[in-house]
Amino acid sequence: MIVKLGGSVITHKESSPPAVNEKHLSRITKELAVHNGKLIVVLGGGAYGHQAAHKHGFGNPNTASTQLLAGIPEIRHNMSLLASKVEKELNTQGIPGVVISPFMFVTLRDNLIDQFPTKIIEETLNSGTTVIIHGDVCIDETNSASILSGDTIAKYLAEQLNPKAVFIGTNVDGVMDDNPTVNPNAKHIPLINNSNKNRILSLTGPSSTTDVTGGMTKKITELLTLASQNMDIVIFNLLVTGRLTALLENSPVICTRIQFT
Ligand code: IPE
Repeated sequence: MIVKLGGSVITHKESSPPAVNEKHLSRITKELAVHNGKLIVVLGGGAYGHQAAHKHGFGNPNTASTQLLAGIPEIRHNMSLLASKVEKELNTQGIPGVVISPFMFVTLRDNLIDQFPTKIIEETLNSGTTVIIHGDVCIDETNSASILSGDTIAKYLAEQLNPKAVFIGTNVDGVMDDNPTVNPNAKHIPLINNSNKNRILSLTGPSSTTDVTGGMTKKITELLTLASQNMDIVIFNLLVTGRLTALLENSPVICTRIQFT
């Protein structure tokens, strides 16, 4: 099972210096505790990742490599802080977990994954330990650095490890046909499949706050490449108490499922 915790839920996304949303984090780790079996928890960056990444010019194609490289320590430091707070909270809830940081063993090339060995992740899971992995800045083999988002990690690990389910926790009910903060009549889309995927991709835009990794459109595009595998792929609202529990227990819940059969 792979669960992504969106940065806008587990952090106060606009807060500077960055801060964890303790209330949500503690509730979410309690919800995760109902899960029995192997678990990978993927963290988004939220206030810890996006602000620092933005400050150092990530997300802007004109930023010089030297400036991007100079941003590595701050982004790494922030993400390590966030990850260790989550690690502590999971362990407090009785979920033995360890942080495995992408920077240490993943390399990118032109923003895409180049090397991402999964043996350490598989062996950690086999030992009965939960893996906590997070969006990170990574060395890009073009003599630069790039951001590896939590969504890309979730998708990649799903492809490699073939889990039963991938649950992507966000701050919305799933995919909407318009931006609900601008259009109050925006409708929730419960299912994305072959017949509506192109229409939906043309409707969804990037998320509104500082987000250097692409927002909802990129999420869906990445998840769509997974959907041919036999796996439950869900985008859901992690702000709402009980939704993660319902997904873990296989009960009906408001969400967007991505399905191709
Ligand atoms: C971003 O990861 C990681 C960094 C900016 C270092 P995500 O793109 O998955 O984060 P959220 O969930 O949108 O905050």
